[in-house]
Amino acid sequence: MERQQVVLHMNHGMGDNSYAHNSIIQKRVMREAKGIVEESMMRLYTIIPIHCFKVADLGCSSGPNALQLVSNVIDIVNTTTSNLNLKPPVFQFFLNDLFGNDFNSIFKSLPQFSEIIEEKKGHKCGACFINATPGTFYKSLFPNNFLHFVHSSFSLHWLSQAPKELGNEENVHLTSTTPPAMHEAYLEQFRKDFKLFLKLRSQELVAKGGMVLTLIGMDKSQKTHDIRTAWSLIGTILNDMVLENLIEAIKLECFDLPLYDPTIEEAKEVIEDEGSFTLQRLESVTLDWSTNIKEVVDDDNNNKLDLNTKAEFTTKFIRAALEPLLKAKFGEEIMDELFVRYKNKIVQLIMGVKILEFPTLIISLIKKV
Ligand SMILES: C[S@@+](CC[C@H](N)C(=O)[O-])C[C@H]1O[C@@H](n2cnc3c(N)ncnc32)[C@H](O)[C@@H]1O
Repeated sequence: MERQQVVLHMNHGMGDNSYAHNSIIQKRVMREAKGIVEESMMRLYTIIPIHCFKVADLGCSSGPNALQLVSNVIDIVNTTTSNLNLKPPVFQFFLNDLFGNDFNSIFKSLPQFSEIIEEKKGHKCGACFINATPGTFYKSLFPNNFLHFVHSSFSLHWLSQAPKELGNEENVHLTSTTPPAMHEAYLEQFRKDFKLFLKLRSQELVAKGGMVLTLIGMDKSQKTHDIRTAWSLIGTILNDMVLENLIEAIKLECFDLPLYDPTIEEAKEVIEDEGSFTLQRLESVTLDWSTNIKEVVDDDNNNKLDLNTKAEFTTKFIRAALEPLLKAKFGEEIMDELFVRYKNKIVQLIMGVKILEFPTLIISLIKKV
């Protein structure tokens, strides 16, 4: 089994650095895509008779977002069936993530979640069965012609592995000084992974089944700093720590982040080349690095959030996602120091440039018959 499939997960639990407490940006992305999920489901519901509605959320992670899709789907389907004067279906949800995901914390939150759903819907809601499906979404996860709807939010920028190309020793991702071959190798890995993902899902979905995906994207014309700056700053700091003998050079030389942020054109090309899906929508929304920060910070100063607060927020957003991978490679003992330095770099970045944004791609697909 690939080591990454075991090591990769978001920070567990409910602590200060946990994904559960630092996934507000991802929550906003789900909110941005909700209208498109709604559109896809209403279409599906009016063309396929469904008694048991089977839905998979791939890369669900843990924390409040893990059950957000379940809640949204129940809302949407109940409203649709009620408008069409149909009986609500039974729901079967499959929550997928890698083996190291904190599935236990999701399970523990289920009794309270079920109470809320029952209170909200009363007897109008069909029975709802929630299952966990651990494993990589770059392999088969379900029987053929099984699912009606697939959702994956903020997960597909994770590659199955970083490219094995040499020549990026002092960095952990793509920067302006990275050799062109490395840029090409990352793009090639994305093409290969995304194409495989589409092929597998097309086998698992019923004909005309729907799929909505969101992932971090890239806008080459954008003049502001994109998410690659946030990823590559990790490399700058690790390199400083090598020079100070705090970590071994060899560890940095053979480490690259398995992440890729495609442009709209790159994503579209793979969808067309793979050929199993009709593209309904491919949109990009631009989000600020401190999107939704006010949900977690008291804002007495009327929008004048200070530099330190913004840098802390961005640091925790990055730490919650990357720490398990970095810890496995460089050791737990350097994590606090690494992220103190990271926050200082972000402070400098915010002082230097006013705008820190990144695009998120929202893709809606229909399986061809
Ligand atoms: C940033 S989280 C997004 C979680 C959630 N969907 C949300 O919007 O908050 C990305 C998730 O994708 C998962 N992931 C990455 N690669 C994966 C793979 N190959 N198979 C399944 N899950 C994967 C990670 O473990 C992580 O939990």
